[in-house]
Amino acid sequence: MRIRTFDEYQTAYQKSVDDPEEFWAEIAQNFQWRKPWTKTLQWNFSEPNIKWFIGGKLNITENCLDRHLIERGDQPAIIWEPNDPNEAGVTLTYRMLHDQVCRFANVLKRNGVVKGDRVCIYMPMVPELAIAVLACARIGAVHSVVFGGFSAQSIADRINDAQCKVVVTADGSYRGNKEIPLKSTVDDALIGCPSVQKVIVMTRTRTPVSMLKGRDIWWEQELKQVTADCPAEEMDAEDMLFILYTSGSTGKPKGVVHTCGGYMVYATYTFQNVFQYEPGQVFFCTADIGWITGHSYIVYGPLASGATSVIFEGVPTYPDCGRFWDITDKHNVNILYTAPTAIRSLMGFGLDKVENHDLSSLQVLGSVGEPINEEAWHWYDDNIGKNRCPIVDTWWQTETGGILISPLAGITKTKPTFATLPLPGVQPILVDENGKEIEGNGVSGNLCMKFPWPGILRTTYGDHERCRQTYFATYPGLYFTGDGCLRDEDGYYRITGRVDDVLNVSGHRIGTAEVENAINMHTGVVESAVVGYPHDIKGQGIYAYVITDQQPDGHDVELTKRDILATVTRVIGPIAKPDKIQFVTGLPKTRSGKIMRRILRKIAEGDTSNLGDTSTLLDPAVVDEIKAGAT
Ligand code: PRX
Repeated sequence: MRIRTFDEYQTAYQKSVDDPEEFWAEIAQNFQWRKPWTKTLQWNFSEPNIKWFIGGKLNITENCLDRHLIERGDQPAIIWEPNDPNEAGVTLTYRMLHDQVCRFANVLKRNGVVKGDRVCIYMPMVPELAIAVLACARIGAVHSVVFGGFSAQSIADRINDAQCKVVVTADGSYRGNKEIPLKSTVDDALIGCPSVQKVIVMTRTRTPVSMLKGRDIWWEQELKQVTADCPAEEMDAEDMLFILYTSGSTGKPKGVVHTCGGYMVYATYTFQNVFQYEPGQVFFCTADIGWITGHSYIVYGPLASGATSVIFEGVPTYPDCGRFWDITDKHNVNILYTAPTAIRSLMGFGLDKVENHDLSSLQVLGSVGEPINEEAWHWYDDNIGKNRCPIVDTWWQTETGGILISPLAGITKTKPTFATLPLPGVQPILVDENGKEIEGNGVSGNLCMKFPWPGILRTTYGDHERCRQTYFATYPGLYFTGDGCLRDEDGYYRITGRVDDVLNVSGHRIGTAEVENAINMHTGVVESAVVGYPHDIKGQGIYAYVITDQQPDGHDVELTKRDILATVTRVIGPIAKPDKIQFVTGLPKTRSGKIMRRILRKIAEGDTSNLGDTSTLLDPAVVDEIKAGAT
């Protein structure tokens, strides 16, 4: 599976375009299948209907666990680093992880979970989170992991959308010096979730929790009731593996669906090639398992490759800003995969807590989630990689299952801020507004894909039409990523950011419409408009223009702002809190009532010199008022 030279990359790429089925069939041979597939690919992007490895039978946990037992049963699969560096960590060998996954799979079974049922997982970054994920996969249940920072309302929406039968959670979680009550948030969520029959609660913080008779049970007590014998369920390659909710430009987050066979092959292939993973290496991805990065590159990709994957419970700045480097030295991390926002925030602390570390175990550095600016790229290269570790700037999305555009570490010549070249099997195309292909180099356009790869989403849960509309209808025959992109003279790709109303705040995807809906729920708010603006650390910050039913001087502005922030936290979670709120008496609207976000974006960016044509506005005077009050 491993490409080792640039020539090999080019040959592999060409083959993947000339004969994609043969190309992926050969790669898929490297996995353990219960039954081989009869047809490698069937697809169209119009319905869409995409199937890989048709008729193939497998269980992804046999690939992530069982098949490693003979050769590397005693090798660490997971190294867990707790929030508090003074607390003892946990190392689970492949044998131990296998044992624990089987046991917890039996707990799920005992509580009525059967193949196809949906299980919501809302947990801290502890080994039990990976165990719960894999236990679902073991018995063919579909996991829906919800990031531990989301609110009760967000959990409820996700549980109801997927009709989850069971929730797996913990009493609480630690993040830096904060203790976060997870179970009580779940309790609030479940007031409106009739589908949930059982809640399994793991003990982490010993925060007092209410345990509802007949519904709530303790993880630890349940484990006493089961054995470690749990044969894996035979799954079809196209059976659902998981749902992961992600924000779009309209409405509520949608449940992106990934299936067993294609996702496994793609996450693993990209893990091994992008990072040039060598057996025995320690891989540290700093993302949360609640996001796609954690699914593909903490759990499935590394474990299917027999790697050692580090799970870190805490935050980069606790107990101080040297924590990533402490972990790197302590566990001899070879490959570090993090986000530009983390790099930028650590840059701000200077080099004191970097220079007192060795960091010589590092061989490859990765970046993911948002465009990496040149300054951050060089800081990472100079101070962390000491100019000897290739940096892979990996571009991909929840919907793509794995990395699509990225250098192969040490093989592809890198260029700061460029994700460089498509991986084998990935066929990017740039189009203009009308869907016309923009050919040649030195051009920019909207980034689409013209051919499926095994990790592409199959649908959005419960609403296939929404999947079609969102990704496959804008430019017929193409998968539309929502990103703008530059292809330079060398044919290298640089992602320039979203072209839709999706924000990327600290690498988290947030829909402007979602934030507006949350703000509008606050009493007294008449209307709001949310845009992104450049933020030194977060990449993008959230700027909200809000109309209230009071005159600007008729209310305590600071208090109302705080109340709005509390409302957004309550409705979505703290990650969606606006950084700036400006009260206005009107919004720039066209005569047909459409908000001209372009103008609001410019004002938020502090660039009011040229607002473009405002003659189509219903009330051009509103723009001057907004300009005058910009924060
Ligand atoms: O805008 C792109 C940005 O993150 C979006 C996908 O977000 P999400 O589904 O949450 O997945 C994030 C982790 C894979 C993309 O549409 N993005 C992701 N990686 C990069 C990036 N933008 C620029 N460079 C990247 N390397």
